[in-house]
Amino acid sequence: VATNCALLLAAVLAIGWYIRDSLKVDDFNQKHVLITGCDSGFGNLLAKQLDRRGFAVIAACLTEKGASDLASAASPRLKTLLLNVTDSESIKRAVEFVSAEVGERAPIRFRLP
Ligand SMILES: *[C@@H]1O[C@H](CO)[C@@H](O)[C@H](O)[C@H]1NC(C)=O
Repeated sequence: VATNCALLLAAVLAIGWYIRDSLKVDDFNQKHVLITGCDSGFGNLLAKQLDRRGFAVIAACLTEKGASDLASAASPRLKTLLLNVTDSESIKRAVEFVSAEVGERAPIRFRLP
């Protein structure tokens, strides 16, 4: 249930940014979108969809297989990371990855359940 909530929250945030960012076409491809639960289902579809639209997608997957399957179905722009939302060490590593990836260009939008 916690994972589903996190996924739903991420999805809602991503859709919100997408709508907002599509109004500002000139900088939308600078925006990073972090999506959790990208192994399958809605998170997976959303990651591919936003990647296709030119977003810099950071896709958090639970498993190696989920991450590599998604990476091979997406553009080279899409980055994957392994994230187990029930493991605080994993969350810490994910935050570090995202910070390094996004750098100074944008604030981190990272929500946890
Ligand atoms: C996620 O983390 C929890 C807690 O550390 C662990 O019990 C579980 O096996 C992990 N799941 C995966 C898929 O690694």
